[in-house]
This record gives sequence, structure tokens and C-alpha cells, in this order.
Amino acid sequence: MESKKSNSTINPQNGKTSNGKQSNGKSNKASMQSSQLMELFEDQLKDIYWAEKALLKAIPKMVKNATSEELVDALKSHLSETENQVSRLEQVFTVIGKKATAKKCEAMEGLIKEAGEIMESCEEGSMRDAGIISAAQKVEHYEIATYGTLRQFAETLGLTEAAKLLEETLKEERAADEKLTVVATSAINVEAAHEQV
Ligand SMILES: [Fe+2]
Ligand SMILES: [Fe+2]
Repeated sequence: MESKKSNSTINPQNGKTSNGKQSNGKSNKASMQSSQLMELFEDQLKDIYWAEKALLKAIPKMVKNATSEELVDALKSHLSETENQVSRLEQVFTVIGKKATAKKCEAMEGLIKEAGEIMESCEEGSMRDAGIISAAQKVEHYEIATYGTLRQFAETLGLTEAAKLLEETLKEERAADEKLTVVATSAINVEAAHEQV
């Protein structure tokens, strides 16, 4: 994290500072905090930009390994959404007047690595499908957390257009997660349990 330390903390849920109530908060302090929030915003934007691009390579591998038609469809449609999400992030970079830059996201790299290990260790069929769903849902949850925070930061910074774009992606990530839950609770987990008996 490149952000400098400050005496107050910023709540990622509402972007407000812990000492925001202090009446002696000078306007230059407020603007310093705003520029630090901007730095944090940009930093996390680069992180998720890397993550989405990595997913453009990872999702097709999940598709190849999946058996259930429902799961294949869910993954394929999320892959095309992911392509849009990458260009939406590029639009957000444009809004803040910055060049779209990716910064390696260690968390996403780890989640993708785990997905690979699960696919290798699970037998092809419903067991592997169940493993793919579990890995994909962890990815979605990471994205939901990130986009929720980014949207809130954008709102706090008064970046209405960026907040709108981030909200659109947040909705897609939530829907993808819900779809995977439906796929999991329909056939796959039941079949996987039967295979184990
Ligand atoms: Fe995404
Ligand atoms: Fe996603």
C-alpha cells in the first residue's frame, strides 16, 4: 500500500473518516484525506484490473474442465461479462484521467491457483464440477467485496460516473454468484454425493 499513514481511519463501507466529526478538521486535512482516498481508489482499481484480466484466462480453463451443461453455460456467460468488466474498468481509469494499469493481485492469483489444484485433484464429472463451483464462488466473493468498496470510494470522491460503472459490475458479480449457487444446489452436489457412496 502506497498510502501514507494518517491519525484517522477510513471506513471502506462509507468512505468516512473515523474523526470526521471533529469540528477543528481543517479543509486542507480534508483535501489530504481525499487525495489519500483517491490513491487507495486507484491502487485497488489497478488490482482488480489485473484480477479481471487473469480471469479472462482462468475461466476458459474452468469451462474445459466442467461437465454439467448448466455450469458450462454459467461460466461462459460470465466470461463474456468479464470482458465487459475489463472495458468498464478502462472507462473508470479514463474518468479519473489515468492510464489503465494492472497491478498484480496476489489474492486473485492465489484463488486461481487453488482452482487449478481443485480441478487436478477432483475426478472429472460432478465431483470436479462441485470443486469448480466452490473455487468460482470464492472468486465472486472477492470481486463483490472489491467492487462494493470501489463503488463506495467513488461515491465519496464524487465520481458519479465511475460509481455507476462499478455498480453495474457489482450487480453482475452478485448475479454470477447467485447463479452458481443455483447450479450447485440443483444437480451437481447431489450427484457428487451419490458418486461418493
Ligand atoms: Fe469480474
Ligand atoms: Fe466475477
